[in-house]
Amino acid sequence: MRSVPPVYDSFPSSSDEDFDAALANEVGRRKNFAIISHPDAGKTTLTEKLLLYGGAIQQAGAVKARGAQRKVTSDWMELEKQRGISITSTVLQFDYRNTTINLLDTPGHQDFSEDTYRTLAAADNAVMLEDAAKGLEPQTRKLFEVCRLRQIPIFTFINKMDRPGQEPLALLDEIEAELGLLTCAVNWPIGSGELFRGVVDRRTKEVFLFSRAERGRQSIEKKLILEDPELRNLVEDDLLDKALEELELLEEAGAGMDLELVHAGELTPVFFGSAMTNFGVRPFLDAFLEMAQGPAARTSSEGLVDPLRPEFSGFVFKLQANMDPRHRDRVAFIRICSGRFEKDMTVRHARTGKQIRLSRPQKIFGQDRAVVDDAFPGDVIGLNNPGMFAIGDTLYIGKRVEYEGIPCFSPEIFSWLRNPNPSAFKNFRKGVNELREEGAVQILYDTDQSKRDPILAAVGQLQMEVVQHRLENEYGVSTRLEPMGYQVARWVDGGWNELEKVGRIFNCKTVQDSWFRPVLLFKNDWNLNQLQEEHTDLKLSSVAPVVSGVDPISL
Ligand code: G4P
Repeated sequence: MRSVPPVYDSFPSSSDEDFDAALANEVGRRKNFAIISHPDAGKTTLTEKLLLYGGAIQQAGAVKARGAQRKVTSDWMELEKQRGISITSTVLQFDYRNTTINLLDTPGHQDFSEDTYRTLAAADNAVMLEDAAKGLEPQTRKLFEVCRLRQIPIFTFINKMDRPGQEPLALLDEIEAELGLLTCAVNWPIGSGELFRGVVDRRTKEVFLFSRAERGRQSIEKKLILEDPELRNLVEDDLLDKALEELELLEEAGAGMDLELVHAGELTPVFFGSAMTNFGVRPFLDAFLEMAQGPAARTSSEGLVDPLRPEFSGFVFKLQANMDPRHRDRVAFIRICSGRFEKDMTVRHARTGKQIRLSRPQKIFGQDRAVVDDAFPGDVIGLNNPGMFAIGDTLYIGKRVEYEGIPCFSPEIFSWLRNPNPSAFKNFRKGVNELREEGAVQILYDTDQSKRDPILAAVGQLQMEVVQHRLENEYGVSTRLEPMGYQVARWVDGGWNELEKVGRIFNCKTVQDSWFRPVLLFKNDWNLNQLQEEHTDLKLSSVAPVVSGVDPISL
């Protein structure tokens, strides 16, 4: 999958003096990003076009192909097909102009925001995709908040310019006012919808003219300079004059490009284009690669870890079982943070202190895999996970480092998961444990040991449905959900000791999470507020603290 020739015949060993330079070269030519958008904004279409430019696919439709064209590679893709949603995240790596790009794909449906959240923890940049007619939409806002927490650079692509949309200035204002993000348009549209004529590149003062390319083909971009008198023959005066006026306004009142602010996640470069007609995608990709940050240093127990640290380190950001039903495997996705990863290397697992040999590492491209020999910071590899990895786990060589964990979202719906068939208990247990490990859903338990049925705690109802569907298809157990009527969960900061000090509490149910910690479930915010007013000393958190050093409860 790697087509860019390395600068060496064989990678120098870590004791060679040119190791550092070779590592720096690999880190320097890597960029990694995830796309955040509301369903239907055009994420699949944009992804496909980017892959087309990267030569990773030959034909449009390869990503999106559904049904017969795409082999059914996992059981729950059936569910995706039935519901027309995208649940599974994948990683797509491709090379373009001597850069290795890792695109971390994220599920679009809001019920899977937690999965997206974990993927964003592995991304160095985000592309915020907006539909020009709709502007900011709920899911985009939610995911933007996650990017903001991590302060990652955000690049905005305003899509579907070939269709009637909102005024471009209004779209920028909305981002500034509602997200508190400065904007700097890199290009500016001339007209929109039926009258969309192209964009002006503000940096080069070139005009890229729009022609409706045949669907799926790369459009031929005709460009001229803004001063070219020919332009007025090709574009109506009123459209051009309006664009020029707006450009002047931007020069006077808009923020200038400042890469430091971009990298701090405070200013977003904005691009206008149309993914479907393939307009503006290549200039976007070129500008993105120029401005995006490379593999970034990461916060760990030992402070910031530089990607050029010669020893390998990385963390697990996603686990997925049964990606390939023929093998019934479990894959742990590792984001490499420093050093060089090599096939068969022995690393230490920070949470348990155990040594693990990483044999059969895979590069995963969508649904396809290839064994990798080496990989570098910014890359993602898949490891077969025989159950030892949990989300957030660090793997390292050399001096101990442990990366910041990935906290869980606060669940909002809770149901008992019943297994009506006692003879299927073994499979039920295996399925529940594996799906919990994967983070498909959070699992809570009653404090009463005799009530052994797990409680599913999720952000969205679809998550519950996926768990049931997968238990049935992958583990052969039919289950029943019994909703519990709670809507709010809070973790008790001081653990069981603090909870005991408070004594008996009312209007809430105490349960424990998979790490033996007390969690309080409330029917509504009012009950929660009441408890907090009565017990001001009790400190509660809406997200589960990150765990280290212990194994979770298994069913
Ligand atoms: P998603 O992954 O974000 O959910 O969006 P997706 O790419 O599937 O795009 C959603 C719809 O928007 C698709 O139409 C797609 O063709 C269309 N679309 C994407 N980019 C553009 C664009 O630049 N201009 C226009 N006019 N449409 C765009 P669909 O009818 O749902 O699917 P299909 O029949 O095209 O496959």
